[in-house]
Amino acid sequence: MKFFIDTANLAQISEANDLGILDGVTTNPSLMAKEGIKGEEAIVAHYKTICDMVDGDISAEVLGVTFEGIVEEGKKLAAIHPNIVVKVPMIKDGIKAIKWFSDNGIKTNCTLIFSAGQAILAAKAGATYISPFIGRIDDGGWDGVQLIEQIAQIYAVQGFKSQILAASIRNPNHIIRCAEAGANVCTCPLDSILGLLKHPLTDIGLAKFLEDAKKM
Ligand code: G3P
Repeated sequence: MKFFIDTANLAQISEANDLGILDGVTTNPSLMAKEGIKGEEAIVAHYKTICDMVDGDISAEVLGVTFEGIVEEGKKLAAIHPNIVVKVPMIKDGIKAIKWFSDNGIKTNCTLIFSAGQAILAAKAGATYISPFIGRIDDGGWDGVQLIEQIAQIYAVQGFKSQILAASIRNPNHIIRCAEAGANVCTCPLDSILGLLKHPLTDIGLAKFLEDAKKM
């Protein structure tokens, strides 16, 4: 399973990248706004910086919601760097645009996936990645990981090539359960990645080893 970081914060991207386990980055308009990135020039510059920092796929989301608007914006984003993946919302015009990008050799990430039907449609259109938002599904009282399992099963049976990119990850357990359920990628906040490191018995064991090492 690949690890992406889900942020536009350069310090957090750098910290995750320094671990040596980072395969890519996902962003969205909310994450870009959180970093105060405003205007086309600043947005392009920020994506360029991220592409220079991380050697892997970088999702950059379109803001348009019409076929023409999404295609025009996506072409500009894809021109920034070969690692840019155009992130497109799961809407009717988005599906048409994903098919256009797929036919024209541009990688896509179909975002805001909340059902298996949406995942089938995005795969049919040729999406490189599809992003089910599992934390938001959990927020509504359902189980987001069950959707990952269902999509993984459908894609395996049908031979769909889109990669399942589990998004809206909220904790380390989400990452573990997504790995078990067959996600190809997890895009995570830094805290959830670092949370995987932690176990109290590791800390206790290390303290004991260091203490005993003084007697060696
Ligand atoms: O990748 C999608 C993600 O950014 C959404 O996460 O926590 O806002 O549901 P969240």
